[in-house]
Amino acid sequence: MSIRFDRKVAVITGAAMGIGGATARKFAELGASVALLDRDTAELEKTATALGKNARAYTCDVSKGEQVEHAITSAARDFGGIDVLVSNAGIQRYGTAASTSEETWDEVLETNLKGFFLASKYALPHLLARGGGAIVAVGSVQSIAALGNAAAYVASKHGVLGLTRALALDYARQNVRVNCVLPGAIDTPMLRWAASLDPDPQHVLESCDRMHALGRMGRPEEVANAIAFLASDWASFVTGAALLVDGGMMVPAGGMGFQESGTGARAK
Ligand SMILES: NC(=O)c1ccc[n+]([C@@H]2O[C@H](COP(=O)([O-])OP(=O)(O)OC[C@H]3O[C@@H](n4cnc5c(N)ncnc54)[C@H](O)[C@@H]3O)[C@@H](O)[C@H]2O)c1
Repeated sequence: MSIRFDRKVAVITGAAMGIGGATARKFAELGASVALLDRDTAELEKTATALGKNARAYTCDVSKGEQVEHAITSAARDFGGIDVLVSNAGIQRYGTAASTSEETWDEVLETNLKGFFLASKYALPHLLARGGGAIVAVGSVQSIAALGNAAAYVASKHGVLGLTRALALDYARQNVRVNCVLPGAIDTPMLRWAASLDPDPQHVLESCDRMHALGRMGRPEEVANAIAFLASDWASFVTGAALLVDGGMMVPAGGMGFQESGTGARAK
């Protein structure tokens, strides 16, 4: 048995680029019809067009209920139903609790967490109409740990894991499995933008490589592979799970810096 999504319909948010773009390509390659949702219409159209006739673009801001409802209803009508939701759209903003403005807090929580709630709320009736389906959310290693100066982002990603578990429990008996992936640093436009905030972006990118036990950042398609697995029948007994896709970032006690510090923890 290989992973296939023939005759399945997948809705993917934040699908114009990065992890969402790679996920849309992966599902299309595995036979699915794909509905790509994003607020960046120009990039979205390019990504959808490159995927051919089984892909359609729906411009939508995931933090706005009316837009999400409209996009998902349109996708279900155009493709005849929905089997899989991948809730991926997200933004990164930096700040401590004191330095984060109320506006930025709301922007991050409304995109990363409310966006997942809204996409699930409007996709679930369509999944249930098919007798079940799968939802995969994109969390982060910051769903279970914190990086400094990222209060809103860390809170939002912890929330994504919480909502994953709540949905998994509420819909298990109706044959809807809900899981999330927790990526480490992945080489996407978001990560490149974050690095560009530093006076020495190259140094940031090299630090990102070193944070992982595997010694490198991840590629968007490596996260897409994990998402496809969780959405597929291969994961038929997996629900409420958080799958680290982090190149071993969360393995070393004290982080890779401690491993490299010259203490007895350094590998000989
Ligand atoms: N890149 C990483 O290192 C990394 C690590 C862990 C988790 N993540 C998570 O993976 C997901 C994808 O990240 P990425 O790195 O591919 O980001 P990206 O910025 O490269 O792509 C994100 C996409 O989401 C879209 N988007 C943002 N806000 C939106 C909104 N309100 N409505 C609709 N679309 C919106 C953007 O237009 C963009 O196309 C995010 O949830 C992010 O938090 C990324």
